[in-house]
Amino acid sequence: MSDKEDDFTRVFIWVLALLVLFTIVVMLLARSVGMNENSGPMKDKYIDIRTMPYGTVKVAGDEAAAKPAPAATPTPAAPAPVAAAPAEAAPAAAAIDGQSLYAACAACHTTGVANAPKLGDAAAWGPRAAVGIDALLASALKGKGAMPPKGGRMDFSDAQIKAIIEYMVNASK
Ligand code: HEC
Repeated sequence: MSDKEDDFTRVFIWVLALLVLFTIVVMLLARSVGMNENSGPMKDKYIDIRTMPYGTVKVAGDEAAAKPAPAATPTPAAPAPVAAAPAEAAPAAAAIDGQSLYAACAACHTTGVANAPKLGDAAAWGPRAAVGIDALLASALKGKGAMPPKGGRMDFSDAQIKAIIEYMVNASK
């Protein structure tokens, strides 16, 4: 072997050794600063919040079901948990809580955006209440003006929409 090739082999081996060493150092560093499995956003508590069911079934008289849902979700944009399940899943005796379901309609009906009749506005609701809950339900189911069918909540049953309308009408007398 010539001197030149000897030099090359020596340098090559050194570079390789340094790279391996560097890799080990980075690995050790990453281990010491990295998250362990149950920290930060991967904490069980936060996973539970992120994956909690959107609705809970509330059966009248059932104390366990009346327990409040886990505390506020960390993401403000997340829809508020609502206290009822689709009618198919709920037994006939289940009370549909129109007041808490109203959260789904509040974006428009609390602010009155796009001329939505505001909650508590007797002048806006009076003439509507006069046509009867069933007529309002029919109109809410198919949508009216700026309001999409079911107020955009196609996941709600007709009975849930009706309960919300009853709540809105009663709160706006
Ligand atoms: C995107 C905004 C928006 C959302 C969300 C929304 N509404 Fe409305 N809603 C409106 C507007 C606007 C009107 C007025 C429509 C009109 O009179 O032209 C209205 C009107 C109504 C009326 C009166 C209908 C009538 O015939 O006068 C009912 C009942 C109603 N909404 C129920 C609901 C319910 C229940 C929800 C939630 C599931 C809901 N809305 C969600 C915008 C909204």
